[in-house]
Amino acid sequence: MFIYLICSILFILALRKLSSVRTAINGNNFAIAGIAIAVISSFTSCTFDTKTLCIIAVIGFGGLIGWFITKKIKMKDLPQLVAAFHSLIGLAAVCTDTAIFLNPGVFNIGSFKSITSLIEIALGLAVGAITFAGSAVACLKLCEKLKSNSIKNIHILNILLVSALILSIFLFIKNANILMFIMIVLISTILGCTMIVPICGADMPVIVSMLNSLSGWAATGIGLTLSNDLLIIVGALVGTSGAMLSNIMCKGMNRKLSSVVSVGFRNQHNQSKQISTQMLVNQCVAEDVVFMLENTNSVIIVPGYGMAVSQAQHVIKELFDKLLTRGINVKFAIHPVAGRMPGHMNVLLAEANIRDNFVYELDNINSEFASTDIVIVVGANDTVNPSAKDDKQSAIYGMPVLEVWKAKTVVVIKRSLNPGYAGIDNALFSKQNTLMLLGDAKKVINDIVKQL
Ligand code: TAP
Repeated sequence: MFIYLICSILFILALRKLSSVRTAINGNNFAIAGIAIAVISSFTSCTFDTKTLCIIAVIGFGGLIGWFITKKIKMKDLPQLVAAFHSLIGLAAVCTDTAIFLNPGVFNIGSFKSITSLIEIALGLAVGAITFAGSAVACLKLCEKLKSNSIKNIHILNILLVSALILSIFLFIKNANILMFIMIVLISTILGCTMIVPICGADMPVIVSMLNSLSGWAATGIGLTLSNDLLIIVGALVGTSGAMLSNIMCKGMNRKLSSVVSVGFRNQHNQSKQISTQMLVNQCVAEDVVFMLENTNSVIIVPGYGMAVSQAQHVIKELFDKLLTRGINVKFAIHPVAGRMPGHMNVLLAEANIRDNFVYELDNINSEFASTDIVIVVGANDTVNPSAKDDKQSAIYGMPVLEVWKAKTVVVIKRSLNPGYAGIDNALFSKQNTLMLLGDAKKVINDIVKQL
């Protein structure tokens, strides 16, 4: 019990430290220590027979695969990896619940007589299967292997599935019957897919975080079934922190959590992609930007997903240093959902040694664009789209955006006029005071740095 207490404190400290880029590495170390102590302490109560050795071998093998994946993964692909890992937690919950149901004696549970344990099994199973399938779909969508298709009448299908799930859970609790057990797994898996498929663009980050929360509750479900206090505590920590993060993101996008989650239950189709084939824009070259930067007092750099793709953060740091030595007032503006995961841009800028005191969140910088000479948008698109403010038909209407167009001049660096994640046109590109500098962000900024 004492060891569980230490582990729980370590996990709480980990969450606390993970809330800031500067202390995040320490946070990770606390979490690793907590997990290591929990795993080692589990083995102290085992006799070292063949089964235990098999378990150790499987943990070692899994750990090796995890180590290999994390060494190879690119920063920009982290969100889909997180979604894939959430999916595995859901699958683990389903497998554990299945093992417990088929052979309760092995887990010192006895037979399933009490309604409480049947409710725990049924809910853990449903949440686990929804997390498994939903996270797998979210992963495919983040990899851009699956589009947000508007399957006709999917809301009716989802309502039917939820009704069937409630009925199956009720019958399972009544009879503890294997058929109903299988039905719960099947229906929840299908529901996990059909609930996530219609969710589009700007709502995806919230859903990924909601699934993170669900994976925590799935772990809590297993903990309750196994009467394992540490699993209950850790699951609840992940569950509540995921739910709080979703809420923070919803506030950042001016969306209601309920309306994001209920997309699959409403009779609405995704807004068609608002992409025009032709857009009149002012193009410029690196020399033009260099000339402007040589005659400016203030610059705000707005990074987006494109900075992550081109890994331009280090060359941006060089540009930043050059501008600072010229006495120019330089700031960075970060949108809460820029990139593909919460804090994506903060992490990249920190990696390039750009100090926190130059980095501003949306609420603190939006009022400064109007008095800024040049805004350089590096691979950001949806997060600087004025249609979120003035086009009620837009798929991102209502989402707070960085109001870069209020600056004297805006330079947008991206490879083409293609849309961003939400798949919609950006009126910023055709504004009078916007100059498009087309090309890979790293290469283009490198050109500017060389000429400055
Ligand atoms: P996006 O709207 O996704 O736009 C990124 C832009 O980067 C694209 O238009 C792309 O244009 C450009 N780009 C890609 N590779 C580039 C390169 N090598 N060099 C230069 N530009 C490049 O980015 P954003 O403004 O950061 O917005 C994020 C979007 O993702 C939001 O819609 C958000 O809701 C969603 N989302 C966010 C999260 C989280 S939690 N942050 C998670 C999932 C989804 P070209 O192809 O023309 O170069």
